[in-house]
Amino acid sequence: MMSRSATRVIRSVAVYAQGSPGYFSTATAGTIASESTSARILNGSGGIFRGVNPGKVSERAAVTWIRLPGMGARNASTVALDAKEQKEEKVETGSAGGVAAGGGGSDEKAIVSYWGISPGKVTKEDGSEWRWSCFRPWETYKANVEIDLEKHHVPVTFLDKVALWTVKSLRYPTDLFFQRRYGCRAMMLETVAAVPGMVGGMLLHFKSLRRFEHSGGWIKALLEEAENERMHLMTFMEVAKPKWYERALVFAVQGVFFNAYFLGYLVSPKFAHRVTGYLEEEAIHSYTEFLKELDEGRIENVPAPAIAVDYWRLPQDATLRDVVVVVRADEAHHRDVNHFASDIHYQGHELKESPAPLGYH
Ligand SMILES: [Fe+2]
Ligand SMILES: [Fe+2]
Repeated sequence: MMSRSATRVIRSVAVYAQGSPGYFSTATAGTIASESTSARILNGSGGIFRGVNPGKVSERAAVTWIRLPGMGARNASTVALDAKEQKEEKVETGSAGGVAAGGGGSDEKAIVSYWGISPGKVTKEDGSEWRWSCFRPWETYKANVEIDLEKHHVPVTFLDKVALWTVKSLRYPTDLFFQRRYGCRAMMLETVAAVPGMVGGMLLHFKSLRRFEHSGGWIKALLEEAENERMHLMTFMEVAKPKWYERALVFAVQGVFFNAYFLGYLVSPKFAHRVTGYLEEEAIHSYTEFLKELDEGRIENVPAPAIAVDYWRLPQDATLRDVVVVVRADEAHHRDVNHFASDIHYQGHELKESPAPLGYH
């Protein structure tokens, strides 16, 4: 973030729409310059950025990037700052779900650095500021809730059967521990669900480096899945706050599951993807049970967390039920991707030979 001295230097602030970098918007530059001068991050009000399809240039252009010029930023840290000003400056934050949510609380501090990295600023199409630093408008989407939730891979080979029974056997202790606490169950299971995509993506990444070859987009697809699962977690932790012993359990389970999945993927990617495919089938079942509890009034259908409203482009009056429906649709997509990946291996091919289903939601 900029210091006061540094921002005196900055009078030319580059404002440009994504897709047309370099264009200068004189209409908004004055406003932005004054905001920059104050070295503030102003948290946006609660509107939602909707209807942005990253594939459409006209819609993409609606997202306005505001960046401080690199020269000014560098001057800020190397020339204009005295020792006192090198200290962190306080940043104003607004609603609880804004930058605070993405970066760590209402006492968020701006960091002044020699390296001249200033955070990009994104606004919604209505001109208000995008309030999440953990994801951006072009990463949001409308879930395809029409996806077939009943699809099931019938195990044929011995390995498939082992994969299915591995997952089924994990369900009993899970049912025993959580019983009907589906909010808590969802939150805890998402801490596990985000592991396979990251492990698979990481291993494919290293394989690509070792072999000097393309991945067919599978690295990105699997990392996208991991990120999507993590967003499920970020959503459900707004609904069910983890207790200390649940955090401890996650700590232990992550240690075991990460290593087990890592070794499993090294030995047999087709087995690892099959296991994940069956895990996703179980996740669909869990969320269907969650919906039953909501529909029968045993779980209160509270308003949807703000992060979910923005991430899935839900209506402002969306509820927890709407969130569970879109999360369940995500799980069905993960199920398809992982069973598909396993099938590719089963048919004697490598993943890179079949273009990855990027952006499959
Ligand atoms: Fe999930
Ligand atoms: Fe999933």
